[in-house]
Amino acid sequence: MKVLVTGTAGFIGAALAHALLARGDEVIGLDSVNDYYDVSLKEARLARLKAKRGFTEIRTPLENRERLFQAFSDHRPSRVVNLAAQAGVRYSLTHPEAYIDANLVGFCNILEACRHHGVEHLVYASSSSVYGANTAMPFSVHQNVDHPVSLYAATKKANELMAHTYSHLYGIPTTGLRFFTVYGPWGRPDMALFMFTKSILEGRPINVFNFGRHRRDFTYIDDIVEGVVRTLDRIATPNPDWNSDCPDPGTAKAPYRLYNIGNNQPVELMRFIEVLEDCLGRRAEKNYLPMQDGDVPATYADVDDLMRDVGYAPTTPIETGIANFVAWYKGYYGYS
Ligand SMILES: NC(=O)c1ccc[n+]([C@@H]2O[C@H](COP(=O)([O-])OP(=O)(O)OC[C@H]3O[C@@H](n4cnc5c(N)ncnc54)[C@H](O)[C@@H]3O)[C@@H](O)[C@H]2O)c1
Repeated sequence: MKVLVTGTAGFIGAALAHALLARGDEVIGLDSVNDYYDVSLKEARLARLKAKRGFTEIRTPLENRERLFQAFSDHRPSRVVNLAAQAGVRYSLTHPEAYIDANLVGFCNILEACRHHGVEHLVYASSSSVYGANTAMPFSVHQNVDHPVSLYAATKKANELMAHTYSHLYGIPTTGLRFFTVYGPWGRPDMALFMFTKSILEGRPINVFNFGRHRRDFTYIDDIVEGVVRTLDRIATPNPDWNSDCPDPGTAKAPYRLYNIGNNQPVELMRFIEVLEDCLGRRAEKNYLPMQDGDVPATYADVDDLMRDVGYAPTTPIETGIANFVAWYKGYYGYS
């Protein structure tokens, strides 16, 4: 299969590309390699991919419609996974324009490119942040999610709406995956595990927001990748039971599906930190702080639909996942 994956210099995109190459797919990896975080980490992820047969790199922003269309017509991918986006809740408070450009303009270009190049399935990244002000746990794709609490979340919800329109109007099968706090080797420097590890190893205190009362459905990268691959292989279909008098938000009359992809086992932030301290063999000095704007106190994914439809079954406990991250971090940054 020829798969165009966007965001391949990123954390999830690089890991997904490795998995697709390993099973013999051809991967066209598209990324702008922007400087939202350490570019050398992105380049290092890309270098490992470029060393493999079957990988082609395209360096362009999604917003460049002409170059994006050129990539589609040159390579004719049969399936597309769109992971490129401006990620991060906090940055959206200070740089809203980056989210409009990448997540709205860029995503519209992806939809248009899929429409005009006969793509048979588009899988795209949404986020647990779309649950916003919702508190009924576990979060389900069958709940209404009209109360985002950050612009990042609003753009991810907008992606789901835009995808539905294209599935409805042009019959393009689309599947949105709401990722829940992904962590693991080659992770993102702006996320808690990475920042905590760096600070602890450098002997600096860590900032513990919401006074440590956060609960997160931390999901290990390999479980995420397994779920994305399985989803990619199952082309979205219409729900024959969809009822317009009582519309189910997670499915549609069009070939449109939404799934949560999480660990289904929320963990207290303080427990997460404790496991990290054990793995590092050091205690962290903690700065307890209030919750940040745009944040939510808890996430917990109902993954029943993904289990039923693609056999998704996350298996990695945080004790294993964090140990793997620490081993990678120490090796990559030269700690003994
Ligand atoms: N990691 C998580 O916990 C998590 C949780 C929820 C949702 N997501 C979503 O999953 C996707 C992948 O996340 P990630 O953690 O790998 O993030 P990441 O930032 O590591 O990867 C995103 C990649 O997209 C690229 N990119 C950004 N804007 C672009 C643009 N306009 N054009 C082309 N490339 C662009 C970046 O250079 C980066 O390499 C994102 O859509 C993110 O919003 C991630």
